[in-house]
Amino acid sequence: MDRFMRVIAFLVLVILTIATINLSSCNGDVVCINSEKQALLSFKRELKDPSSRFSSWDVEDDCCKWAGVVCDKLNGHVIELHLQNPNSTTSVVGKVHQSSALGGKIDPSLVNLTRLNYLDLSQNYFGGIHIPMFIGSLANLHYVSLSGAGFGGTIPHQLGNLSSLHFLSLSGGGSYPGVKLSVVNLQWLFGLSRLERLDFSQVNLKKASHDWLQVINMLYSLVELNMSSCELHHIPPQLHHVNFSSLTLLDLSKNDFNSSIPGWISSLSSLVSLHLSSCGCGGLFPDGFCNLTSLKVLDLSQNDLNSSLPS
Ligand SMILES: *[C@@H]1O[C@H](CO)[C@@H](O)[C@H](O)[C@H]1NC(C)=O
Ligand SMILES: *[C@@H]1O[C@H](CO)[C@@H](O)[C@H](O)[C@H]1NC(C)=O
Ligand SMILES: *[C@@H]1O[C@H](CO)[C@@H](O)[C@H](O)[C@H]1NC(C)=O
Ligand SMILES: *[C@@H]1O[C@H](CO)[C@@H](O)[C@H](O)[C@H]1NC(C)=O
Ligand SMILES: *[C@@H]1O[C@H](CO)[C@@H](O)[C@H](O)[C@H]1NC(C)=O
Ligand SMILES: *[C@@H]1O[C@H](CO)[C@@H](O)[C@H](O)[C@H]1NC(C)=O
Ligand SMILES: *[C@@H]1O[C@H](CO)[C@@H](O)[C@H](O)[C@H]1NC(C)=O
Ligand SMILES: *[C@@H]1O[C@H](CO)[C@@H](O)[C@H](O)[C@H]1NC(C)=O
Repeated sequence: MDRFMRVIAFLVLVILTIATINLSSCNGDVVCINSEKQALLSFKRELKDPSSRFSSWDVEDDCCKWAGVVCDKLNGHVIELHLQNPNSTTSVVGKVHQSSALGGKIDPSLVNLTRLNYLDLSQNYFGGIHIPMFIGSLANLHYVSLSGAGFGGTIPHQLGNLSSLHFLSLSGGGSYPGVKLSVVNLQWLFGLSRLERLDFSQVNLKKASHDWLQVINMLYSLVELNMSSCELHHIPPQLHHVNFSSLTLLDLSKNDFNSSIPGWISSLSSLVSLHLSSCGCGGLFPDGFCNLTSLKVLDLSQNDLNSSLPS
């Protein structure tokens, strides 16, 4: 009997504990931190918002409930900002779809969101302003997308401080004539050893043409790489050791390599999707190309290849 009561008491305790854990994780008591709310309000103040996407950002309300803001449920810190333009899919090349795009300036108050790990400002229109270098001091960022957002000028090397970054998209998007990102070099990528997805499409990488592959070869975790339309004009035919062999997607289309398909591509044994259209690639397929047994998508259109695909 005594043992029976003890078992019952134990079960009750377990049930109470589970109930308490459940309550504390969904009681909604966690509200946003005032300094972070002030930072978001300063950030909002400097932005143009023609379609009132910030209408829920009311100073009286908990900023964790504002549209696009995600807080940590345990401590109320702002951890994610989802501020991509929802109408991106309607974008037309050559035409600025500004009606619902955010624009203006990006206030440095953002650095006060010290726990921020996700920042998406894609498909807005910042009119050619530079990517703010202070983004490089948001050390917890895992995900940064500034693609198609009308940023221009040189990409700040400070982004190389974001050592937790898994995803970086700076794709030009191409919708804005005269607005283009470029680099002086790509050395700053050395700091991003956890990077899995990198999109530089339509960024002018001409000045990094001589060593872009050596830099990419340091990114051991890379899974997807898009360097389409990057004005690259050199591709090394061989690599001593391919370090980024987890790559599943490689897009080097629309560059001007004037070269044959390099031999190191045969070592990318995980490759599923390979895009080399209009890359100035000619000649023969490299040895071992048929080792790419995972390959499902292969685009070699608009090149001067004169050999047929190896069986
Ligand atoms: C933008 O998207 C919203 C809903 O997502 C829609 O109500 C609005 O009409 C769109 N605006 C334009 C210019 O497409
Ligand atoms: C960050 O917050 C502090 C205190 O709330 C404030 O004094 C400072 O100006 C803010 N920094 C920026 C860059 O806005
Ligand atoms: C980048 O990191 C270096 C060294 O850790 C530091 O001195 C520098 O201030 C950082 N830059 C930014 C923009 O955070
Ligand atoms: C690479 O980027 C370009 C331009 O942004 C895009 O059109 C293309 O679909 C991307 N490649 C892949 C394989 O997703
Ligand atoms: C690639 O990895 C090797 C070791 O596996 C390393 O020595 C080398 O520095 C890395 N980078 C390049 C560019 O080869
Ligand atoms: C392309 O390469 C070939 C052979 O290496 C060379 O003769 C030719 O001048 C190059 N074309 C351009 C446009 O660089
Ligand atoms: C293919 O191109 C190579 C050099 O680029 C040339 O030597 C060879 O004759 C060409 N083959 C055919 C079938 O045109
Ligand atoms: C292709 O695979 C074979 C067998 O696994 C291997 O001997 C050869 O070295 C590979 N070739 C290349 C270029 O990777």
